Amino acid sequence: MIDQKKIYGFYEKISKSYSKCIFYEADTRYQKNILDNVKKYLNLNAESKLASIGCGNGSTESALAEICRLKKKILAVDPNKKMLTYAENYSCLEPILMDGLKFVKDKNFCYEKCLLKEIIHHFSQNEIYQVYQGIYNQLTEDGTVLTITRNQETEYPFFSEAVEKWREIQPPIKLFIEAQRICGFEVALKEVNFKIHISKKDWVDMLKNRFWSHLSEFDDDCLNKGITEIEERYRGYETISFNDCLIFLIGYKC
Ligand SMILES: C[S@@+](CC[C@H](N)C(=O)[O-])C[C@H]1O[C@@H](n2cnc3c(N)ncnc32)[C@H](O)[C@@H]1O
Repeated sequence: MIDQKKIYGFYEKISKSYSKCIFYEADTRYQKNILDNVKKYLNLNAESKLASIGCGNGSTESALAEICRLKKKILAVDPNKKMLTYAENYSCLEPILMDGLKFVKDKNFCYEKCLLKEIIHHFSQNEIYQVYQGIYNQLTEDGTVLTITRNQETEYPFFSEAVEKWREIQPPIKLFIEAQRICGFEVALKEVNFKIHISKKDWVDMLKNRFWSHLSEFDDDCLNKGITEIEERYRGYETISFNDCLIFLIGYKC
């Protein structure tokens, strides 16, 4: 059972430091790699009408608008007031303060491309079907939905309990693929890998800041114990390196 109130509270708390996290910093090689791949797999051009559900602070969308020279404003949907406040600063976005599930059921919205970046795991299994069905209905003929998510088995340098928690919260990829197929999409899967090098101090600070929502499931004692585990595992290391594997699911409306 997904606790929406808890998720809301998490993003409210993290909103201020969100853009400082390596995974969400603007103008980095990491972000550029994602943007190039989003442009490619969504086949975006200047005329495209894009909706991004769970857009957060709108940083990805505003950068996309720039590199694709989008003429039409991007529908930037997020239920979190604090996150969306940042998106309101970009004139290329049309911020919509709304839950994603409610948005996809609204017949007034229509677009050719849809982006779901790092948000699909915030819906329950039943909601995932409804989300894809709603997007299918809102998409124009030949429309595309791109879901960016991560594997259930993670390579991130988390402490053991956090690895377990991740697996518990992150549904298997096949569930997202199956849901899209049932709704009428043809689905392709691509992996987008990027090697991350980060100072141990910065990584530990991120953990302390509970940068991803599964870390907010731990109380201070558990988190501190976990951080000690990481400190011991990487004793003598200045830098930690790991692979960031993003799963791109491209759903073609047919
Ligand atoms: C990990 S962040 C990703 C933000 C952005 N897509 C990015 O990649 O930077 C997840 C976002 O999903 C939003 N979210 C959570 N539950 C949602 C829901 N039911 N409908 C729409 N968005 C939701 C959160 O408010 C948060 O901004």
